[in-house]
Amino acid sequence: MSETDIRGTVAVVTGGSRGIGHAIAAAFADAGIVVAIVGRNGEAAERAAAELPGAGHAGYACDVADPAQVDATVKAVEASAGPIGILVNNAGITRDNILLRMKDEEFDEVIAANLKGAFNFTRAVTRGMMKRRDGVILNITSVVGLMGNAGQANYAASKAGLVGLTKSVAKELAGRGVRCNAIAPGFIETDMTAALDEGQVESLRESIPLGALGRPEDVAAAALFLVGPGARYITGQVLAVDGGMVM
Ligand code: NAI
Repeated sequence: MSETDIRGTVAVVTGGSRGIGHAIAAAFADAGIVVAIVGRNGEAAERAAAELPGAGHAGYACDVADPAQVDATVKAVEASAGPIGILVNNAGITRDNILLRMKDEEFDEVIAANLKGAFNFTRAVTRGMMKRRDGVILNITSVVGLMGNAGQANYAASKAGLVGLTKSVAKELAGRGVRCNAIAPGFIETDMTAALDEGQVESLRESIPLGALGRPEDVAAAALFLVGPGARYITGQVLAVDGGMVM
């Protein structure tokens, strides 16, 4: 990636088939970035990649929680598209439950996908980025990781863990020319929030200073800035894109 231009850089976006990840993939493709969309469902990832503007985009089937699949995917992307310059750890799940009812599997699955998944991909791309002294990692955490949320002990812990991961990776790799930041979205209109009923959405709106839920494109605009040359002096930061929920 040149200091002034990210066109032609290869980016991996996990969970990029839909929602926030898809909006990030689309914004990257619009900016001339070559995007590898990673998802558990390979066909959905390929379909999403085929719809992006520009050439060279591809979809890959991979469960981010499985280190062997992640290593193989990184190798496959680099063999076909070239060195990975940008990694966006966006894949995430929820398994909400009140603490006393939360099952081991509900806790473990969320940590495995949201936190271990980001670690798996970060470790897999780091050697190449360090060698080239060039790379950007962006983790999609959540305001819930900053302020907690009743019924989401597993999810909030995974997202708070991502903040620690972001800052540690930023410190460890800064001297090697690699930046690492996080975005903490507030409530964004996607499949993840579609399950909320009108009453819940209304009370949410009241808790958001800007008075509305966000759109995936709002997160994508921040993502494009943070991976681009305009953010060359920014690392280890968590940018809330939340209509002012966390100040
Ligand atoms: P979504 O559910 O629409 O999309 C998540 C994507 O991640 C899906 O394509 C899913 O297949 C993929 N994914 C999940 N587990 C995976 C795994 N183990 N391996 C590979 N792919 C996997 O969710 P949305 O709303 O687009 O969320 C994207 C990210 O933003 C998540 O990390 C979420 O926690 C975070 N976020 C979302 C907020 C919202 O209000 N929608 C708020 C704050 C954070």
